[in-house]
Amino acid sequence: MRAPRILVTGGAGFIGSHTCVALIAAGYLPVVLDTLVNSDARSLQRVACITGVEPVLVCGDVRDAVALDRVFAAYNVAAVVHLAGLKAVGESVADPVSYYDVNLAGTLALVQAMDRAGVRRLVFSSSATVYGDSQPSPIAESAPYAAVNPYGRTKAMVESVLADLARADARWGIACLRYFNPIGAHESGLLGERPHGPPNNLMPYIAQVAAGQRECLVVHGADYDTVDGTGVRDYVHVMDVAEGHVSALRHAARRPGILMANLGTGRGASVLEVVSAFERASGRRIALRIGPRRPGDAPAYWADARGAWQAFGWRARRDLDQMCADSWRWQAANPHGFDDPAPAHASGLPRFQDNTSTSINSKPGHSHA
Ligand code: WQD
Repeated sequence: MRAPRILVTGGAGFIGSHTCVALIAAGYLPVVLDTLVNSDARSLQRVACITGVEPVLVCGDVRDAVALDRVFAAYNVAAVVHLAGLKAVGESVADPVSYYDVNLAGTLALVQAMDRAGVRRLVFSSSATVYGDSQPSPIAESAPYAAVNPYGRTKAMVESVLADLARADARWGIACLRYFNPIGAHESGLLGERPHGPPNNLMPYIAQVAAGQRECLVVHGADYDTVDGTGVRDYVHVMDVAEGHVSALRHAARRPGILMANLGTGRGASVLEVVSAFERASGRRIALRIGPRRPGDAPAYWADARGAWQAFGWRARRDLDQMCADSWRWQAANPHGFDDPAPAHASGLPRFQDNTSTSINSKPGHSHA
């Protein structure tokens, strides 16, 4: 019985590569479509180090209908995990049209290609930013859309498109996963987050301060009405998020219709609490100074995490200390990210050869749609 092939758009990224690990562990074979604009193909070699299987990488754009049709024809795809998209809030304010083009038009092109191929199981990477910055926490899935930036609005619009699609055609099974704050790294230390340039997000910035690559963390405001004045978020381990995709995929395969589900722990942590946890995990002191509030930041929000448990038996299992320990292990072992060599034993691992079809291009492991 051959393992079902799952198309993972954006699968070479931070969430995507960890999701490939979870998919392979659950008996699926990922086929990755990625432009590599915001990701690194070497993340998939690290997936191979961890799992023994290197997903095929098809370098292509989710907006390209021809590329999509070729992938569906070549790889006998059973379902899709759609992670490809632009995700920086600040950038979306400066360049909204690109965000609507990639995130919204890209998803429209994808679901049209899926329909042509008769593939109607979809897990969509959504975001807690659809709730905006004024919902009382814990935030449940029933809270109204109130996005306050173009990025969040693209996610809310895609969810609405998918809900209309599921209503119009009962053959579709769709799960929209609203990520809160994914952080951490695979426990092996082989895979993790490596933003291009200075990190916008808290955890990679702290990790680089701990490693001596950044001088000091600037805390964006310490005068919020929170436990210690600093911003509070619901941090969730990236491997919990990855495993949430597998559970949601199984749910979508069993249940037609659409489901929105929060992926969070249901607990908030302040910036200073994250710093303390990271100092405990790394044994390093994190130099910091208090700066002004960051425009657009909400003071505090965290998930009502019961929905995913009730719908498909998922809940976060890893706590903040493990998120920090795993993040530090990745940072310490890979100070230059994927530029650091993978461990020696990685080279001899088998690659995922899809013998059901001729590869789109010549080299296994890499193909261009
Ligand atoms: C967390 C807290 C900052 C950096 C972002 C995206 C969101 C989602 C998750 C995709 C806040 C504080 C941060 C720093 C700091 N991504 N901070 N100094 O803003 O909650 O959400 O990632 O869905 O779309 O907006 O995450 O990590 O940037 O900030 O004090 O150098 O850390 O003020 O309170 P955020 P973040």
